Amino acid sequence: MMTSNEIREKFLNYFESKGHTRVSSSSLIPHNDPTLLFANAGMNQFKDTFLGISTLPYSRAASSQKCVRAGGKHNDLESVGKTARHHTFFEMLGNFSFGDYFKREAIEYAWEFLTQVLGLPKDKLWVSVYEEDDEAFNLWREISKVPQDRIVRLGEKDNFWSMGDTGPCGPCSEIYIDRGEEHSCDADKCELGVCDCDRWRELWNLVFMQYDRDEHGNLTPLPRPSIDTGMGLERIATVMQDVYSNYDTDLLRPIIAFVEDMTGKEYFEDERGFPFRVISDHSRA
Ligand code: SER
Repeated sequence: MMTSNEIREKFLNYFESKGHTRVSSSSLIPHNDPTLLFANAGMNQFKDTFLGISTLPYSRAASSQKCVRAGGKHNDLESVGKTARHHTFFEMLGNFSFGDYFKREAIEYAWEFLTQVLGLPKDKLWVSVYEEDDEAFNLWREISKVPQDRIVRLGEKDNFWSMGDTGPCGPCSEIYIDRGEEHSCDADKCELGVCDCDRWRELWNLVFMQYDRDEHGNLTPLPRPSIDTGMGLERIATVMQDVYSNYDTDLLRPIIAFVEDMTGKEYFEDERGFPFRVISDHSRA
């Protein structure tokens, strides 16, 4: 079994081998950004670089960023403990290009990392692209050879990423793993893009950063198109550790065991385990 520490290290190592500078997570409390209470994505600490306001001594970076999504534009609080995949606090693995590479390399790296480095089965992976993004659709076809019925075109809600109401944003492309038909829900259409159940596990979001959104919603092209990706460490850990829920990984399960010890109560993976999952998520946060 691959531990979460090993997965994180493999990710950072892989991107270093592709010329990225390894950058530490920023503090959860963002510096100099009144638009955010807590860091909510790996790209936050690079916001000014995406906007062209500041420069860095490197044009490629990779990090594992501590994030909290418990309010604001990205808020997963109400889903915690109910789904297998949501948290308030989580770690986001990300690679970034500041006006260096764009869609092609972002897709090549993500595909190579998942299928070659981690060895995930290609036939279980699905992709979504922004509905108007023919370029991303064609690149996925060319690079991954994923059949076109496993590349889904979705609208702005799913495939256009913004950090907050203002700031850098752009169309995105997400990589999902199908956890198997046996995990289908009761919905009439348990299909990717239609159904939000745990069968379809979004692993990695590749954002093609192209615009700055102002307070009136106007989009201004960024000085240099860039890349911002994010993959939840807890989510990829479930796949590599062959468990169904993030709460059964080596990141969360020890906390649940601790709560069992403290309370003298047994944890169950079904709805009876809800308070254990909430306590383990919130205490970790
Ligand atoms: N910023 C994007 C996200 O949070 C990709 O990292 O999903």
